[in-house]
Amino acid sequence: MTNHSSSRVPGFYKLSVPERQAALQDRLSAVDLAALTADGALALDLADRMIENVVGTFSLPLGLALNFIVNGRETLIPMAVEEPSIIAGASSAARLVRETGGFFATASPPEMIGQIQVLDLPAQDLPAAKQRLLDAEAGLRSEVDKLHPSLVKRGGGARFLEVRVIPDSPIGPFLVVHLILDVRDAMGANLVNTACEQLAPHIERISGGRAHLRILSNLSDRRTARATCTVPTGVLAHGDKSGEEVCQGILEAWAFAAADPYRAATHNKGILNGIDPILIATGNDWRAVEAGAHAYAARSGSYTSLSMWKVTADGDLAGELEVPLALGIVGGATRVHPAARACLALMGVASASELAEIVVSVGLAQNLAALRALAAEGIQRGHMRLHNRKEG
Ligand code: MEV
Repeated sequence: MTNHSSSRVPGFYKLSVPERQAALQDRLSAVDLAALTADGALALDLADRMIENVVGTFSLPLGLALNFIVNGRETLIPMAVEEPSIIAGASSAARLVRETGGFFATASPPEMIGQIQVLDLPAQDLPAAKQRLLDAEAGLRSEVDKLHPSLVKRGGGARFLEVRVIPDSPIGPFLVVHLILDVRDAMGANLVNTACEQLAPHIERISGGRAHLRILSNLSDRRTARATCTVPTGVLAHGDKSGEEVCQGILEAWAFAAADPYRAATHNKGILNGIDPILIATGNDWRAVEAGAHAYAARSGSYTSLSMWKVTADGDLAGELEVPLALGIVGGATRVHPAARACLALMGVASASELAEIVVSVGLAQNLAALRALAAEGIQRGHMRLHNRKEG
């Protein structure tokens, strides 16, 4: 690699695996490089401390997606995944988007939602119990903050409470308290669950009800990331199809996903093809993100596309993706797994929000790659072509 900071590395696909590893020497510490390139990067004794009944470890290929620029910063994207063509697809879409300066992404504050289910209150008492809880909000927030001083010191902590009445359920009406907790650079599940358990006795006392479930919600719709990109129509030309034809084909494909849940599920799976491999490579909880993404896709009441595509006034293709991303760069496997630490170091992310901005951009790139392949030549031919040629 000649330019150490560039994510554009022509011919990377032509190198042998040891040559690719050697090309990373200037980008990673010796320890991180060893963690990434070792067979079985996770030692058995570490694995044995992570989960129960360990009998071994399980490896996946780890590859690098190239050509990404996110918010003006070049970055290599580590992806752990078993499916061919994902990395080539992301790299080729990122190369198209480079023409206009790359992806632009933002992340909301890292606010997670914890839920406390409050039962055993007569239906007619629910509005008054809700009001009492809202009146006690400041005290409840400080109960949480008191127990998490280091989170508060880092700028996080309890933000506010919401109280919802569930008017109808198989067991009748009940209350749900939402604790909104800013978890900073953690994924936050442990912080949120602990905080909910700590709040539960106070909520029982104030509401007069019984606190049942105390657990985070994976529909983390207050912790989203959003990416946009623009592609000059001309560069979309493919085979015997002009850029305008491919662009129109992409819009038609997106319209299909926007209108039909059967197609939207596949369309969104293509987006998650870009997202999950980075989550796995960085030790993040991809099931949590999957759950959140699909619930978010159904938030209007009918399941639809997570992305949006349109043609701008200048005739360019413009895409947008917003997705809940509860990611951490501290704690859990992210801290323990040496390869996860190395992957984070490779991307040079300083916060969970910065990681989310990269992840949502790769999701959008993957969606563009899939729609372009589907619109231009059909996925089987497109996948095989990418797989055979790879993308430099
Ligand atoms: C295959 O893993 C993903 C695609 O089916 C996504 C899509 O259809 O948009 C190609």
